[in-house]
Amino acid sequence: MTAQLNPRGDVAVLVPAAGAGVRLGPGAPKALRLLAGEPLLVHAVRRIAAAPSVHTMVVAAPATEVEAVRAMLAPVAPVTVVPGGAERQESVAAALAAVPAGPEIVLVHDAARALTPPHLVESVAAAVRDGHDAVIPVLPVVDTIKEVDATERVLGTVDRSALRAVQTPQGFRRSVLIAAHRSAGDALTDDAGLVEKQGITVTCVPGSELALKITRPFDMALAEHLLTSGA
Ligand code: CTP
Ligand code: MG
Repeated sequence: MTAQLNPRGDVAVLVPAAGAGVRLGPGAPKALRLLAGEPLLVHAVRRIAAAPSVHTMVVAAPATEVEAVRAMLAPVAPVTVVPGGAERQESVAAALAAVPAGPEIVLVHDAARALTPPHLVESVAAAVRDGHDAVIPVLPVVDTIKEVDATERVLGTVDRSALRAVQTPQGFRRSVLIAAHRSAGDALTDDAGLVEKQGITVTCVPGSELALKITRPFDMALAEHLLTSGA
């Protein structure tokens, strides 16, 4: 059964899913690879659709797979599918351009974070609703971090207590994200980085271990294990 999105919701979620998945090794685009028998993107979309504030979802698919992704997601949730671009930032911009009038909170969420729980979507959206222009979910950094030079010689130890590992969904007041993308220069890996360049304050909320980014084969194995143990 297709999950209904909430017509009274105030959140649009953009799902960049157009990447190749080079670091996973040879195979289909990452969003289409199977995790416990279903494409990564299906897992991601199902969890977003379960978040009650979501009014609209726009997926940026690999350009050659738009029709296939539409057909794949039709039984999962009502989503708009657009062709993505060569860089993540272009895929996000394409999805942003397809958001209809209405939702004033826009979340940007990697398809690769396929196990992200619906409550994280809600907590990021709630922080934007509470008046923050830009909100990111973060986790503390657990490893000791060293700064090194080009020859791998250690220059120093970074104060870990002041560092955070950043996840998605990242949430924005709609006008803030539009302005940041309009003035975007160099490609960055996250949307909050574009907003920071505008001088806008970015606020952190607690992230979730389940929002791990599936990047390498080890992450696939971990995600598969988490799924089979009930995530
Ligand atoms: N993404 C996208 N368009 C691109 C590149 C990336 O929509 N041109 C999306 C990916 O599909 C993913 C998210 O951005 O959901 C985060 O990117 P990443 O984890 O780097 O995925 P890939 O680019 O697919 O992986 P790799 O860098 O290993 O090729
Ligand atoms: Mg990439």
